[in-house]
Amino acid sequence: MIILGIETSCDDTGVALVRDGEEVLADAVASQVTHEDFGGVVPEIASREHLQAIYPLINQVMSEAGTQPDDLDRIAATQGPGLVGSLLVGFTAGQTLSFLWDVPFQPINHLIAHLYSIYLGGHEIELPVLALLASGGHTQLILINDYSDIELLGETRDDAAGEAFDKIAKMLDLPYPGGPEISRLAEKGEGTKKFLPRPMTDSDTYDFSFSGLKTAVSRALDKYERAEIAREAQAAITDSLVAKLNRAAREFKPEQVLLVGGVAANQRLRDEVGRELSDFDIFYPEQKYCTDNGAMVASAAHFLPFEKQNQWYNSDVNSTIQI
Ligand code: KG4
Ligand code: ZN
Repeated sequence: MIILGIETSCDDTGVALVRDGEEVLADAVASQVTHEDFGGVVPEIASREHLQAIYPLINQVMSEAGTQPDDLDRIAATQGPGLVGSLLVGFTAGQTLSFLWDVPFQPINHLIAHLYSIYLGGHEIELPVLALLASGGHTQLILINDYSDIELLGETRDDAAGEAFDKIAKMLDLPYPGGPEISRLAEKGEGTKKFLPRPMTDSDTYDFSFSGLKTAVSRALDKYERAEIAREAQAAITDSLVAKLNRAAREFKPEQVLLVGGVAANQRLRDEVGRELSDFDIFYPEQKYCTDNGAMVASAAHFLPFEKQNQWYNSDVNSTIQI
């Protein structure tokens, strides 16, 4: 089964063709650079850029894979959560092609799509699964006992982990998106002093909080080198994620632990999870499938239950849906 997946929930226009939920036939992502000047995503600009990128990208993946509309079994697009104007572009493009090409349309939850990104590396999910979903918009610890029994163990009370990377990067005069920039600068940071807090690591909930880190960073700005701050900020964010993930893994004893979402691309996070949870089976997608992409949308569509009738006709984007 070949599915065209479309993702436009934030600032990446992602389009991909995936066979049987695992084999990526073609995959293209246009990352918007305009936002660099603003230090964050400007919704109005994001939707306009999606509009320019979406059809050329669809053409590109169809011709790269040598796929004709008749070869498609389904078209899937992100329904939410995300920026409404951005979501509308990919969702409407998907619905329009579904109507024109007479291919069934399937709306996909963005957070669920991140979970299915794991299949793109050829990994199968074995339940129960404990997943850390850490992106620019969300930070959640999710326990999947069964596909009809998904438990949200905890989530951020304020900023998401990726958002913390982005905001601290801005304070260090680094461009957006801040995660990879902070990681690069952190490699030059020397010293082992822990001068930033590890938020919520002592609390017995599975919730996270990252907004206080910004204040701590602002106080550190004139005391430490930028690279030292980058190293410590990366350590503080990832330590806090690892502490909760570790505690949840000990409590719920999952078959597998998954790291998904843009922040799962972070090497320190991967290393620390590997060290602290070495007795668990840990999986994460390739770097390019951690951040937003169309392939994970197509993969989720393949594995999720699907009802055919009028899917394109009676569905709409939704900025606030949750897992
Ligand atoms: O999943 P994603 O592409 O979009 C959302 O659904 O939000 O995640 C983007 C976030 C950004 O905040 C970005 O700074 C962060 O993921 N990110 C990283 C890394 N690569 C991307 N954070 C830390 N380390 C990275 N290597
Ligand atoms: Zn995402």
